[in-house]
Order: sequence, then structure tokens, then C-alpha cells
Amino acid sequence: MATQTLPHQPLHDLDEWDDFLEGRYKEGKSEEEFRVYDATATPGVAEFYRQNHENMTVDYVLAKEAEYFSLNKGQKTIWEAAEFLNTLVDDSDPDTDLTQIEHLLQTSEAMRRDNQPRWMILTGFIHDLGKCLCLYGEPQWGVVGDTFPVGCAWSNDIVFPEYFAKNPDRLVPRYQTKYGIYEPNCGIENVHMSFGHDGYIAEVMKPYLRDESLYMLRFHSFYPWHKHGAYDHLCTEKDRSMLEWVLKFNQYDLYSKGHTKPNLAELKPYYDDLFAEFLPPTLAW
Ligand SMILES: [Fe+2]
Ligand SMILES: [Fe+2]
Repeated sequence: MATQTLPHQPLHDLDEWDDFLEGRYKEGKSEEEFRVYDATATPGVAEFYRQNHENMTVDYVLAKEAEYFSLNKGQKTIWEAAEFLNTLVDDSDPDTDLTQIEHLLQTSEAMRRDNQPRWMILTGFIHDLGKCLCLYGEPQWGVVGDTFPVGCAWSNDIVFPEYFAKNPDRLVPRYQTKYGIYEPNCGIENVHMSFGHDGYIAEVMKPYLRDESLYMLRFHSFYPWHKHGAYDHLCTEKDRSMLEWVLKFNQYDLYSKGHTKPNLAELKPYYDDLFAEFLPPTLAW
């Protein structure tokens, strides 16, 4: 299948961001140690966050939500969506790197080994399918990266907060208060999150999956919330009870990477059944 790479992207590939997270949140690391990730240590990642933080405005998010949340990119099965995502290859060593499908399978298979519920294993498999946004021409900074609410004050728990200095929303006073355009405890489901692969896949799956699953999808990169406890003032009791599932999910997303390539042909029948149990044959993307 034809492959596509975009020019002028600060990350070597999308996995570079995942690797950054894995290092940043290595188990047992203290809050102080997170801070050693600065522009000199990881210049590509820093440049990526600079682009993200400077461009992720309320207007940008609303425009992207209007464009993608109407799901008008056509019908695809889960396998077709996964194959499509697999066309996103990187230029690094093909022998050691896993394909996108292999990353998804490693996540879901780790859940399966731990006897997690079937809906969670499904969630593990689909969680990064929204990265196909890159194949629609979206820049890296609009696809991956830690997510955060727009339209209210940025938390200092967002990585590289200094890069918000040049975000145009800085000049909009009502976006700069604690609650901004939101009400206290309005629920994070009702908040406009920075645009990326998380929100997109959650929209695709919204009609079919339970809340726990949708929270895992929508908020899996919302590290300021699920790792640092920020934005609790926007949360409801429901959000707080869903947090435990998001955290449970996060363990698998961050730490399930291994070097053994999952055997797709062997696993396919199990996943065919799993998709059929929860999802229609094709979905709107
Ligand atoms: Fe992700
Ligand atoms: Fe992931």
C-alpha cells in the first residue's frame, strides 16, 4: 500500500511522542524528575509542543470539531481503519519498529492477558485509530500530544507551559480566567479539549461504547488531569469516578510496548468476534 509522510514535522514519527511520554512517566519518577524534559534534552519534542501550544486556540478547535466530528470521511470497518493507519510509516529502522497495528495489538493483548473486560480489550485495540488524522493532512501538533481544555486558563501541569506565551488566546481575557467559557463543575465531557486523535476516535465510537470506554478514548492523552490532578474544578462526580478507568487504561498504553511482534493472522479471529460483539460491520469516520 502507498505510504505518506508529511514534510516539516518536528517529530521523526508519531511514536517519538509516545516514547517521550513513556520516559516522562516512567514508574516511580517524581514530579521534579518530569521537569528534566526540556528543550535541550528533547529538541524535536519541544518544537512539537511549541507548535501545539502556539496554535491550539479556541477557534482552531471549534473549526476542527466542525470538520471532523460530523464524521464525513466515509465508512470503514475497524480492520480497514487499522490498515489505513498502517500506511503511516516512519523512516526509522523497520526491523525494530512496530507497525501501528502491532502497537494496538500489544496494548489490547496485554489487557487480554490480565483478563480485563472484553469492552476494554476492544478499547485498547481502537484507542489510537484516530491518528489517521495525519493521513488526512493534519499536522503532528494537531494529532498527538498531551491534551488540555481550551477556552480557560492553561494549567501549569501541561508540559512546556511556557510555549503558551505566544498563543493568541492569551490576548482574550475571558479565556484566561480559571473557568473561562465554562461553568464550575460543568463536566469535562462538555469541555472543548485541544484537538487530536483522542477526541476524534471517541466521536467515531460514541454511539456504540459505554462511558468507561469513551472516557478512555477521549481523555487518554489528558495527562494534566489523569496524572497531575489538574482541572478538577471542571469535573463532576461522574468524571471523578471515570478517572480510575482512564488510569487503568493508561498503564497499558504507556507500558505494554515490547519487542515481540503480535501474530496478526493468529489473533484475527478473536478480534473479528470482539468487533462484531460491540460494533456494526462498518462505521462512519
Ligand atoms: Fe493515543
Ligand atoms: Fe497509544
